Amino acid sequence: MSPAAQTETKLFAPSADTVARAHVNAETYDRMYAASLADPEGFWAEQGKRVDWIKPFTQVKDVNYNFGEVSINWYADGTLNVAANCIDRHLATRGDQTAIIWEPDSPTEPAKHITYKELHGSVCRMANILESLGVRKGDRVVIYLPMIPEAAYAMLACARIGAIHSIVFAGFSPDALAARVNGCDAKVVITADEAPRGGRKTPLKSNADAALLHCKDSVKCLVVKRTGGQTTWIADRDYDYNEMALEASDYCAPAEMGAEDPLFILYTSGSTGQPKGVVHTTGGYLVYAAMTHEITFDYHDGDIYWCTADVGWVTGHSYIVYGPLANGATTLMFEGVPTYPDAGRFWEVCAKHKVNQFYTAPTAIRALMGQGTSFVEKHDLSDLRLLGTVGEPINPEAWNWYNDVVGKGKCPIVDTWWQTETGGHLMTPLPGAHATKPGSAMKPFFGIQPVVLDPQSGVEISGNGVEGVLCIKDSWPGQMRTVWGDHERFQKTYFADYKGYYFTGDGCRRDADGDYWITGRVDDVINVSGHRMGTAEVESALVAHAAVAEAAVVGYPHEIKGQGIYCYVTLMNDREPSDELMKELRTWVRTEIGPIASPDVIQWAPGLPKTRSGKIMRRILRKIAENDFGSLGDTSTLADPSVVDDLIANRANK
Ligand code: WTA
Repeated sequence: MSPAAQTETKLFAPSADTVARAHVNAETYDRMYAASLADPEGFWAEQGKRVDWIKPFTQVKDVNYNFGEVSINWYADGTLNVAANCIDRHLATRGDQTAIIWEPDSPTEPAKHITYKELHGSVCRMANILESLGVRKGDRVVIYLPMIPEAAYAMLACARIGAIHSIVFAGFSPDALAARVNGCDAKVVITADEAPRGGRKTPLKSNADAALLHCKDSVKCLVVKRTGGQTTWIADRDYDYNEMALEASDYCAPAEMGAEDPLFILYTSGSTGQPKGVVHTTGGYLVYAAMTHEITFDYHDGDIYWCTADVGWVTGHSYIVYGPLANGATTLMFEGVPTYPDAGRFWEVCAKHKVNQFYTAPTAIRALMGQGTSFVEKHDLSDLRLLGTVGEPINPEAWNWYNDVVGKGKCPIVDTWWQTETGGHLMTPLPGAHATKPGSAMKPFFGIQPVVLDPQSGVEISGNGVEGVLCIKDSWPGQMRTVWGDHERFQKTYFADYKGYYFTGDGCRRDADGDYWITGRVDDVINVSGHRMGTAEVESALVAHAAVAEAAVVGYPHEIKGQGIYCYVTLMNDREPSDELMKELRTWVRTEIGPIASPDVIQWAPGLPKTRSGKIMRRILRKIAENDFGSLGDTSTLADPSVVDDLIANRANK
């Protein structure tokens, strides 16, 4: 049973203080939620006022979920600029307020406090540099940076001139970077010399050099100095950001963008094929990111807010940069890892910067929980008011530890369920409105209509105490609009299986009280340490190795990571299994995709369980990986049932 499938009925009610302070209490939630469904146009027209428009919208929503004609538009005739909303509009009232607190990897290096005024100057300089490299409205820019302020400058600089950014997580390999640069035909790649993390350094520039060998010669590389480490330099291709910034003007006029102009592309894994470029647009995305940031985290002026994600993932886009800055918040950016120099780093940073809202992933909580409570107790966490989690189901043990040890029982926990595709939170308890249950995403956000469908018939299952696949009826402003360059794939992935709904790929249960529990993916996507990965990607990396004839990859329960990567590998006839080969394959996958895809287990498989028509029966492979041999189900349809006995016999040796 997956952790989230367990029922935990104990309710944790918000304190009177929390309720009194909250933007939304139980009564307002019920009223606003009902209004958001009764009159979506009116509701979202009102929420649209959260952002400053150059030309105000007159149309609110224009959405078609019919397979074959899917099109999603919000505020379509309005125009605006995201960077102006995240920076310029705050200058008069909070120019000297800190916009970004930057905490470096090493605690001995000083933190930086960047005011809105300073942010404005830096973003304008970066925007002018990009323009000088030939970047124009609608062009694509790939960002491959560590968690340094320049990553936020780069995002906002693109938004300022109307370029579309595509961030590639700095943990991805040169091959993965090249695929993403080519996938969106980027003009410029922004990188840094090196990325310090946990006391080690990743050579980002040399990764970019390796990637660019596989890209068009015209792609330029803008290099930020982070460590000062040596890099090779190619004249007329590589440009020195720090030098150019000295010369660049600190003013750049924000471009007037249509609400439906793309803001960014972010590649994410699906159940088939290579990662797809999720496209988010300008107006609806910003409204939704700002609204959810304010309400879910109950953000108030003057609060210090910290989301520990990386800007390489959607959480970093919506909840480190766009949502918080649109709200004029102080947002903390952390370059390091939770366990460096020791397992108290998160709490040290919370105490040092007096963090009020703290948002992280269950995998980090589980890892820190294993180190004992002394690392937490050493630090003064009295400013913490709210805790959040994201990215994967949280098991009740981790939830309780987070609540008791970190939150001292006084901080509401928001377990936010959402996806790269959704742009912002779709389900979460709201701190002042809902009592929480450990492991439950509880309630839909405003305007969100979750439905539980029967996986076979696609029929909606009504009532409480039910389980099925999770779909969403109707649209919300933060929804993705298309897959970059492949609208067909967008429709097939999200609108084909269950007609008239957005299909999330997740399973879910609505409990007896009508609260929602995410039960995990129902497709071939696995969730490793909160990172989403397609098993197909790992398989195609494995079979690209000369020794591998065939590979099948599944997820299995992993105490810290949530899920681990389990690979069944069939070797070419002339190759013998060995420990060296196993090591080589692990390194191979790390090189092809990145360290986050590193296999946890490789099992040699002389054969894979297949149907007579040649389809691999993953259900069986999952069960074997889970060490659950009692419920393999019907194996009689297999072409060669004896394969299974062999796999079980070898699993026992692991
Ligand atoms: C999973 C991350 C349970 C889910 C924002 C989803 C969760 C996938 C939760 C999206 C949660 C995310 N509880 N599962 N609170 N949040 N997930 O695109 O399976 O990286 O479909 O977006 O993570 O991952 P993605």
